[in-house]
Amino acid sequence: MENQLLELTLKRRSVRRYKSTKIDDRIIDEIMKVALTAPTSFGHKAVEFVVVREQKRIRELGVCKSLGGSQINGADTVVVTMVRTADERQSEFWIEDGAIASTYILLVAEQYNLGACWVHIRNRTGNRKTSDEEIRKLLGVPTGYTVLNLIAIGEKGELKSPHTEDDFDKCLVHYETF
Ligand SMILES: Cc1cc2nc3c(=O)[nH]c(=O)nc-3n(C[C@H](O)[C@H](O)[C@H](O)COP(=O)(O)O)c2cc1C
Repeated sequence: MENQLLELTLKRRSVRRYKSTKIDDRIIDEIMKVALTAPTSFGHKAVEFVVVREQKRIRELGVCKSLGGSQINGADTVVVTMVRTADERQSEFWIEDGAIASTYILLVAEQYNLGACWVHIRNRTGNRKTSDEEIRKLLGVPTGYTVLNLIAIGEKGELKSPHTEDDFDKCLVHYETF
């Protein structure tokens, strides 16, 4: 049986430059459908997203991360990944929940041959407050949520060589004992 997922994961690279081509709304909807299928701790489905497509708002989001935030400028879409952390039980796993959903987005973007990149927000700073606080204020996110990252998506504006199976050190996988 062909390992289609391996082919996809080898092709997927972090793409940080984008062409200005408009991505069809239906493709963005398909990407978000996949994000919603990600596993979540306790099945709580505590991960929520804000899909930002207005270029002005994308630039404002970039300003919320003082070092490197501007790399999202020019992306067609930025998905802001956040998790409901108000519930104590949920907050134990919020990073994992958010990271898995984000990974799904990175993979499905590649499936549509789109470039995408995780732009980190947790523990990062904006101009006056944390990046998380500035983003929540900008987007009107109610209290009880924490932002993990921004996933920038756009038509690839740079070509990256795919990974090859040789790039990965098989010694990292241990069987039975370390
Ligand atoms: C938790 C996490 C945080 C990351 N943060 C950033 C970031 O803030 N900016 C960025 O350009 N790339 C970021 N990346 C992308 C990594 O730099 C990238 O995945 C890594 O260099 C491997 O390259 P590849 O994705 O092309 O395989 C992040 C990735 C992860 C998983």
